[in-house]
Amino acid sequence: MLALLMLLLAIHPGYGQASAESASGTDGQKTITVGLSADFAPYEFRITVDGKSKIVGSDVMIAEQIAADMGAQLKIEDIAFDSLIPALQSGRIDMIISGMTPTDERRQNVDFSDLYYTSRQVILTRAEDADKYKTMAALDGETIGVQSGSIQEEIANGIPNAKVTSVKSISDVVSQLTSGRVNVAVFEGPVAEAQVKNRKGLAIADAVPEDSDTPMAIAVAKGNTELVAEINKTLTRLNAEKAVDGYIQQANEMNSGETAPSNIFSFFWKYRGFYADGVKYTLLLSALGVLFGFLIGLLIALLRLSGVKILKWIAVAYTEVLRGTPMLVQLLIIHYGIATAFDIKFTVLQSGIITLSINSSAYLAEIFRAGIQGVDKGQMEAARSLGMPRGMAMRTIIIPQAIKSVLPAIGNEFVVIIKESSIVSFIGVADLMFQANAVRTLTYSGLYPLVIAAGIYLIMTLILSKLLNVFERRLSAGDNR
Ligand code: ARG
Repeated sequence: MLALLMLLLAIHPGYGQASAESASGTDGQKTITVGLSADFAPYEFRITVDGKSKIVGSDVMIAEQIAADMGAQLKIEDIAFDSLIPALQSGRIDMIISGMTPTDERRQNVDFSDLYYTSRQVILTRAEDADKYKTMAALDGETIGVQSGSIQEEIANGIPNAKVTSVKSISDVVSQLTSGRVNVAVFEGPVAEAQVKNRKGLAIADAVPEDSDTPMAIAVAKGNTELVAEINKTLTRLNAEKAVDGYIQQANEMNSGETAPSNIFSFFWKYRGFYADGVKYTLLLSALGVLFGFLIGLLIALLRLSGVKILKWIAVAYTEVLRGTPMLVQLLIIHYGIATAFDIKFTVLQSGIITLSINSSAYLAEIFRAGIQGVDKGQMEAARSLGMPRGMAMRTIIIPQAIKSVLPAIGNEFVVIIKESSIVSFIGVADLMFQANAVRTLTYSGLYPLVIAAGIYLIMTLILSKLLNVFERRLSAGDNR
């Protein structure tokens, strides 16, 4: 068990990270990790290169310049916009370059570099409705979509009677708009322009939000004056060279719009590389989650049945807490909460595996307990009367029978874990769900990427159920000899 835990911790720190992309450099060079939310063309977004996803954009070019000036290797982490500041505070990333506006509220939590660009805010809407929104007054009481944690969210909340829907990513905002769930969205000008250029049916309305000029800066952890100074040096140079406008233009050219195939099979074929990468992590996570969950669960079940009061209560508390709280909350506590409070930094993959393991261990503990209690009492009595110590009787007589009788339930837990593992995409593990979202952002297509992911999950769970059936039949065949 200990050995397995060591193995878990030994998994290479960058492994499984969404898009841990690094420029090639010699070993021993320092690395600088930049966090961004790659849904914000032309600033940061994904394109497909040779069937693989790559993060590009003007912010990425700036990051490359900063890293080069510092003689450091650049690593990029794709994190939901509203999780960037927590990631910075917990020390998972060194800086945020994500089109972030230095607001007073944010300044209380992080420090900012000099400004590197100023853009304006606009109102994005469906092309046929563009005429309806000539002034801001027309937005009164309107349904508005924004990205959660952004200043656009604040702007929308300031519009009288607005019904604001905040979602994780810019592609979700666009889907809300195209599917008619909201009628308008507040957008950063260049981002809206990129959307209009690459998607049919969208337009920028004439209405202009108040104080619409908003600057962008790079965020670092509070008090990291050294890094701010380094960053500012590069920014001063880039400003003198008037480089950023050029970067945005270059980025816009890269974003010439992927033409996603209109047939789901060719769609799948084009993005199969994404899905294949995702399946690897989903299987790895589920297998390790069930394996550790099995061992921990067995231990908890034994504590619960140990007959020692305090051990029993620990086991009860463990199972109740883990079964009575959402796995997403557990995941975020393990990944961000513990990192901030105790300075333990699990990689995204480690946090994912730990969460899945302890969560499933609680369910498996209950399954084991039922199994152990289901073994006829007479067996223990017989073993003891033959002079076998209790522990040995447990190990050699009771537990093997218990496990055999609960195998179907354990198999079921495995199926559940394959599906539930999809939540790890939330912290940026590049699993199947994560890849589906990446394809969604890339193609602006709301349906196919998800239907394909659903199909792959289904295939995985069906195959697993079949295997389990065969396995069970083999075992019970042994009983009827
Ligand atoms: N400028 C806005 C803000 O600071 C939006 C930035 C969103 N960035 C992104 N990569 N999605 O709140």
